[in-house]
Amino acid sequence: MKHFTSVNDVTDLKKWVDEALKIKADPQGFVDIGGQKTLGLVFLNPSLRTRMSTQKAAMNLGMNTMVINMDKEGWRLEMNDNVIMDGYSVEHIKEAAAVLGQYCDILGLRCFPNLKDRHEDYSEEVLNKFIKYCGVPVVSLESATLHPLQSFADLITIKEHATKPKPKVVLTWAPHVKPLPQAVSNSFSEWMVKAQELDMVDFVITHPEGYELAEEFTKGAMINTNQDEALKNADFVYVKNWSSYNKYGEILSDGKGWMMDNEKLKLTDNAKVMHCLPVRRGLELGNDILDGNNSLVIHEAGNRVFAAQTVLKKLIEGNKL
Ligand code: CP
Repeated sequence: MKHFTSVNDVTDLKKWVDEALKIKADPQGFVDIGGQKTLGLVFLNPSLRTRMSTQKAAMNLGMNTMVINMDKEGWRLEMNDNVIMDGYSVEHIKEAAAVLGQYCDILGLRCFPNLKDRHEDYSEEVLNKFIKYCGVPVVSLESATLHPLQSFADLITIKEHATKPKPKVVLTWAPHVKPLPQAVSNSFSEWMVKAQELDMVDFVITHPEGYELAEEFTKGAMINTNQDEALKNADFVYVKNWSSYNKYGEILSDGKGWMMDNEKLKLTDNAKVMHCLPVRRGLELGNDILDGNNSLVIHEAGNRVFAAQTVLKKLIEGNKL
C-alpha cells in the first residue's frame, strides 16, 4: 500500500480488523516500528478526533508528529494550474506539498469538499494533487468524498460489539441545519459493502427521497426510503446527515421525523447506535440515546487511534520507511 485513501487500499479487510484489535490489546507493542520517522498532519479544515487520534497512533508507534492547520496558520493555497496568482492565494499546492514532503516521511491531509461543484469535489482534485506533488505516502484524514480512517474505526467497533456472526447494520440519514459533505456516509457505505461481501454484516441504507448517495459507493447495499422498515431487527444503527448528491450540496427538507431516539430504537433489536462525531444533540441524534447504554459514540472515537495505528504501521512496513 503506497497511500491510504479508501477501502480499496485494504488488502484483507478481516485481517486488518484483527490486526487493529491486536494493536488495541497492546498499543505500545510496536513502539520500535516508527523509528523516529516524522508524520506530518495537514488540515485544510477543523478537526478534534482525527487530529488527536492520529497523533496518538503515531506516538504509540514511536513516530514524531508535526501538525499544521493550513486554514489558520498556513499560506492560502492555490489549487488551479496555469494561473496568474494575482488574487488572494499566496502559495501553489505544487510547492507547498513538495516542501511538506521534504520534512515528513508520511503525510496526512484533510480536505473537505466545497459542495458547490460536484465534478470538482468528486474528482478529488486537492487530494490527488497533494499526493502527486508531495512525493511521500499519504493518509486521507477525510477527503472531499471519503473518510476511510473513520470507517475503519467503525468496522472495528462493530466487530467488537457484534453478538451475532452477521449483524444487521443500518446507515440512517439524520436531520441537520447545515449542508454537510457525503464523505462519512459514502465511506461507511463503501466499507460496509465490502464487509457484506465477506459475510461480516448485512447492510441497509435508509434516507428520505432525494438523498441518494453516489452509486459508486453504495452498489451492493439494500436501500429503503422507509426508515421504520429499515430499522427493523437492526443490530447497529449508524446515524449521519449528508446533503443531497443529486441536487448537489442542497438541504431538501427539515428532516422532521428522521431523528433517531429511544422510540425508534424500539423498532430495532436493541441496536447499538453509532455516529462519527461531532454530533448536534437533539437535532441529529436524541439526547436519550447519546446518554443511554446503547450509544457507542465514545468507544467508536476511541477506536480511531487503533485504526490509524494499523494504517501507519502498514504504510511504514509496506514502503520500507
Ligand atoms: N469524526 C471525525 O473525523 O471527527 P473530527 O472532524 O473532529 O476529526
